[in-house]
Amino acid sequence: MHVAMIGAGYVGLVTGACFAEFGHVVTCIDNDPAKVAALKRGEMPIFEPGLAELVAGNVAAKRLSFTTELAAAAKAADAVFIAVGTPSRKADGLADLAYVYQAAREIAAHLDTYKLIVTKSTVPVGTGDEIARIVSDLRPDARFAVVSNPEFLREGAAIADFMQPDRVVIGTEDARAQDVMRELYRPLVANNTPIVFTERRGAELIKYAANAFLATKITFINEIADLCEQAGANVQEVARGIGLDNRIGPKFLNAGPGYGGSCFPKDLLALLRTGLDFGVPIRSIETIISINEQRKRAMARKVIAHCGGSVRGSTIAVLGLTFKPDTDDMREAPSVAIITALQDSGARIRVFDPEGMKHARSILGDVDYARDAYSCMEGADALVIITEWDAFRKLDLAKVKSLLRKPVVADLRNIYHPEEMARLGFSYVSVGRPKVDAAG
Ligand SMILES: NC(=O)c1ccc[n+]([C@@H]2O[C@H](COP(=O)([O-])OP(=O)(O)OC[C@H]3O[C@@H](n4cnc5c(N)ncnc54)[C@H](O)[C@@H]3O)[C@@H](O)[C@H]2O)c1
Repeated sequence: MHVAMIGAGYVGLVTGACFAEFGHVVTCIDNDPAKVAALKRGEMPIFEPGLAELVAGNVAAKRLSFTTELAAAAKAADAVFIAVGTPSRKADGLADLAYVYQAAREIAAHLDTYKLIVTKSTVPVGTGDEIARIVSDLRPDARFAVVSNPEFLREGAAIADFMQPDRVVIGTEDARAQDVMRELYRPLVANNTPIVFTERRGAELIKYAANAFLATKITFINEIADLCEQAGANVQEVARGIGLDNRIGPKFLNAGPGYGGSCFPKDLLALLRTGLDFGVPIRSIETIISINEQRKRAMARKVIAHCGGSVRGSTIAVLGLTFKPDTDDMREAPSVAIITALQDSGARIRVFDPEGMKHARSILGDVDYARDAYSCMEGADALVIITEWDAFRKLDLAKVKSLLRKPVVADLRNIYHPEEMARLGFSYVSVGRPKVDAAG
């Protein structure tokens, strides 16, 4: 089949490359000429493990190409996917659908034969109806179906998530559209991946409900972690104990500095606002958003308390800036709020992140960028670990101790063991576990 993918960002590029790997002929269209030019040179605009190889292989096989021009790709396509951004609208927190509707208008101009218009972007319930209306108004003669096909991939594991998903959700009641979608996902249909057909509105809502539920799990365990700290329990034991109950499940129960990223914050806010528009205040989500927001600055206060109550004039080394490992995505990363709060309290900040520093430069002010983890901590008064990159799990702790001016570590991802840190002579705090000081 022929696929046109509008938007070559995290979702469009990964999805486009994976559809090409399935054997379809895919054109990714992006209106950012620099991004398209880089892709044509074989340079990835994002960091995603395995993506460069997947793209190169499919470009070489002539199944994947990049352009800024929609016309030819849309004309040839059986399905035109919309994978553009849907950020929070500043005024009211609703999803900003300007890019989605613009894409719909552009598609309308190229509808000659029957085609699917498929939303991969995360869009509020009812958006598919509006896309159909926009296209029908512009092209009353056109034959098309609008399908919701939300994407559940996680940055950092995006290719595996797309190739081996827990499920594929397809929102359309149009039988012909269902057949095209089945054909597009044929390798997954063949290996018995659950393909969940729903009404379009149901599919749109599934994506938001899934993200809200996952954010709830994270927020819940974060609050239990706070209780563990006060009550003298270990949150990792508690999480394991509850996670083994298969009604709960073990995933998303790692206590930390709060969720961030390009999806959870904006999607929870959009779901909350959408609910209000339907006269349904979703109080649980309102609370989750507020708890998570407060948590980030609370993490800075935790660091300050661990540094003896003041960081004024101190140099704090920060390892990890991206909202999670294996991505360069800095959108809504907790590191930003934590670093800003530390700066507000008078600390000087030196940072290192394996992939996030390019984007960080445009977000963080007055921060020193180190060339690696060890030079970041050299002479610092404390080390704060914010993102659990693999490289930070394997630090030479003796070297860490010798480089730091004071052996003070705040591990906001619980990657080290408190007893071992105490034995090595660190003053160590983590999340939801006992705080320890140098043994002896
Ligand atoms: N990033 C994720 O992990 C993830 C996961 C699941 C779903 N989503 C959803 O997928 C959507 C896209 O997210 P993303 O992270 O890939 O965004 P992104 O910002 O990385 O990419 C969007 C791309 O669309 C391009 N674009 C915008 N309007 C265009 C137009 N009219 N024509 C051509 N190109 C256009 C932009 O230049 C940009 O390259 C969002 O709705 C998001 O919520 C994201």
